[in-house]
Amino acid sequence: MILSEGIAGQEAQIIALFEATFAASEGASEGAVIGDLVRGLLSKTPSEDIYVFTAHDTPHDTAHDKDRLIGGAIFSRLVYAEDPRSVFILSPMAVASPRQGQGVGQALLRHALTKLRDAGVDVAITYGDPAFYGKIGFEPLDPERVAAPLPLSMPIGWIGQSLTETPLVALTGACSCVEALNDPSIW
Ligand SMILES: CC(C)(COP(=O)(O)OP(=O)(O)OC[C@H]1O[C@@H](n2cnc3c(N)ncnc32)[C@H](O)[C@@H]1OP(=O)(O)O)[C@@H](O)C(=O)NCCC(=O)NCCS
Repeated sequence: MILSEGIAGQEAQIIALFEATFAASEGASEGAVIGDLVRGLLSKTPSEDIYVFTAHDTPHDTAHDKDRLIGGAIFSRLVYAEDPRSVFILSPMAVASPRQGQGVGQALLRHALTKLRDAGVDVAITYGDPAFYGKIGFEPLDPERVAAPLPLSMPIGWIGQSLTETPLVALTGACSCVEALNDPSIW
């Protein structure tokens, strides 16, 4: 397996991976919603506000003769109006259905968090299942102290971690996200 950063002309494959993975796990309409979300993130987000990390199987791993995309994790910038720290949110993330439950997701996220830390990102946040993300260091956040950009339908999924030695206790000020995430239906 190869873990990489960047899109490198793979927009269509990345969108297709997210659409197929969420269609398989949550139904066709959710697959379409997440596919559109990823299309929007990749096309509308300024390059300094987004990181895309991917996992590929190589011919060595499979019977195929080309690398195959098996995982993706998209981070985009959150801005806290009165806080100078660099904050990114992971949303969404997917591992291809036949490769789930084999450690790909955890390996991809560990790689991503190391790269973000090296790039000077202070805080990583996500909005998802604490049972999975807790394995990679995400802990519950108090929305009163770390605001979300839009109202949360499942506050239990609001989780994050510091990438520095300073504990993540609070981020000050109102929170805003990139345009593609600024949609109440996905929160
Ligand atoms: C969630 C997801 C990204 C995890 O990636 P993965 O490669 O399957 O996960 P890993 O194999 O690295 O880790 C799985 C571990 O987390 C645990 N886990 C807890 N909740 C889980 C969940 N909702 N999904 C998958 N694993 C979960 C598993 O039991 C397993 O634990 P173990 O290693 O002790 O056996 C992947 O399953 C996926 O794409 N699911 C469908 C889409 C989705 O829900 N995306 C996340 C929301 S944005």
